[in-house]
Amino acid sequence: MDFFDVLKERTSIRNFKSAELKKDDLNKILMAANSAPSAGNLQSYEIVLIKDKEKRDKLKDACFQQHFVSQTPVVLVFCANKEKASVRYGERGEKLYSVQDATIACSYAQLAAAALGLGSCWVGAFDENEVKNIIEAPDYIKPVAILPIGYANEETHQTPRRKLDDRVKEDGF
Ligand SMILES: Cc1cc2nc3c(=O)[nH]c(=O)nc-3n(C[C@H](O)[C@H](O)[C@H](O)COP(=O)(O)O)c2cc1C
Repeated sequence: MDFFDVLKERTSIRNFKSAELKKDDLNKILMAANSAPSAGNLQSYEIVLIKDKEKRDKLKDACFQQHFVSQTPVVLVFCANKEKASVRYGERGEKLYSVQDATIACSYAQLAAAALGLGSCWVGAFDENEVKNIIEAPDYIKPVAILPIGYANEETHQTPRRKLDDRVKEDGF
């Protein structure tokens, strides 16, 4: 699919079929995430791949009962690795770059899923400590985005955006 068509096709999906993802597709999605840029190419993020139904159910609870989180066969948890980024970049690395690295990787994964005809929804509303417990994360790991991926069981709906004229400030505010 043409890149700009992928951008149009990608809309948040919150109702999924239970069908398993093809191994090759999942691999392509993970490779896409892995190709994302990162601060100093330190790649200060980790991806936790959750397939286990019990863990997906626990994640759904940690995401304040957003039911679709346990509806897909695969859920990716993108985590900032604060330690990795702080070694070179100190506080800015720990607090900003590691989070940016994880979110860019999640964006790449989401677009790759769309290019493969798969649905996903970025989930940011979750109890961080609960998620850390579920994925058994050490202290220096901060979960920043959860991405359930699967076959859509609903039509895609494009949501409105602000007008470019309103958003883009030429030469500053
Ligand atoms: C940082 C972030 C957090 C989000 N958290 C949630 C969430 O917890 N639950 C949810 O259903 N959608 C969540 N979304 C998806 C947005 O609601 C969605 O992207 C937005 O409404 C635009 O719709 P679209 O993705 O279909 O273009 C989140 C998106 C982002 C980028």
